[in-house]
Amino acid sequence: MNEVTDALAPIQDGFRAENCFLFGPSSVGKTTVAKAAVRELRQEVLDVPHAYVNCWQDYTRNAVLEQLARDLVGAALPRSSSTGRLIDLITDNLNGPGVVILDEADQLRGTEVLYDLHEIRGLSWIGIANREVDLLADLDDRVTSRISVAYRVRFDTYSEDAITEILSRRAREGLGPGAVDEDVLARIARLSEGDARQAIAALRVAARMATREGLSVIPARLVKDAVANAEREVRQKTISKLNDHQRVLYEVLAEEDGLIQKELYARYEEAHPDPVTLRYLRENHLPKLEHYNLVDVDLVLVNGCEFPHHRMAQPVSPDYFESAYF
Ligand SMILES: Nc1ncnc2c1ncn2[C@@H]1O[C@H](COP(=O)(O)OP(=O)(O)OP(=O)(O)O)[C@@H](O)[C@H]1O
Ligand SMILES: [Mg+2]
Repeated sequence: MNEVTDALAPIQDGFRAENCFLFGPSSVGKTTVAKAAVRELRQEVLDVPHAYVNCWQDYTRNAVLEQLARDLVGAALPRSSSTGRLIDLITDNLNGPGVVILDEADQLRGTEVLYDLHEIRGLSWIGIANREVDLLADLDDRVTSRISVAYRVRFDTYSEDAITEILSRRAREGLGPGAVDEDVLARIARLSEGDARQAIAALRVAARMATREGLSVIPARLVKDAVANAEREVRQKTISKLNDHQRVLYEVLAEEDGLIQKELYARYEEAHPDPVTLRYLRENHLPKLEHYNLVDVDLVLVNGCEFPHHRMAQPVSPDYFESAYF
């Protein structure tokens, strides 16, 4: 949080902020921190132009620029504006230095838009991705030498204690004091394996189950089912966010007991009307499915050669928690 705040600090003096890049596994607070840092800045500098783009949904250059024109300068957009027109609109109307959050930036179809942002005076960005990919890699060297990413912030998985603390605050705020014991929260944290989103969903599910039973305190016996139900809930929500390429991959894998990458690609290519290349699939769509724990990958031996092999990640059933480990 401090690093992102430092990156944005120049805006308080009327200068362009530093670009920064946040990366790390799912559910570790990247989006939360980026939004909180911008919110904090807005308390210092009222009216700072800001925008949030989820590049998973808005993955083309024009889609990103359209969102920026709307959020940064409140432009009423003529239908299907050209790239140049959108950039002009933003450049001409941007009032002082501003900041853009590019969430899920690894889903951008191309990275020229980073160059567009660079050309707009006063604009800086916070890019968010799962892995420390080089966001500027596809750009021309002459361009990348001029665009810099001054802050790279790595987020690590939360410890059980950190998750318990997050839950404890949520419970106090959302359920009131005394609705759940600390050891029940610790149990939710342990079963959620460092995943804050999952743990918070489990707390919500557990509260709902307890209410249904007419209880005012969440009993420990509900935790196991709550965690399993929460996992399904989170998974369902993630699946609903998949783009059509990722959805086809997921559906193919749902029908199969795992496929090596080449076979998976062949099946995808058959099923999708406008398929991307194998390379793009491998570098872009498949890692996304892995990041969100929808698909597992390992290596299998075929004729003495190792091949990547993908299968649907198995949902956790409550029985899983009966094992000795827990
Ligand atoms: N430090 C924290 N304090 C309180 N809540 C948190 C914290 N970190 C994360 N959360 C909560 O956990 C959930 C997941 O966080 P967030 O969406 O920021 O993760 P992310 O790193 O962006 O994950 P993804 O890569 O899946 O998008 C959110 O509900 C968020 O409010
Ligand atoms: Mg996020």
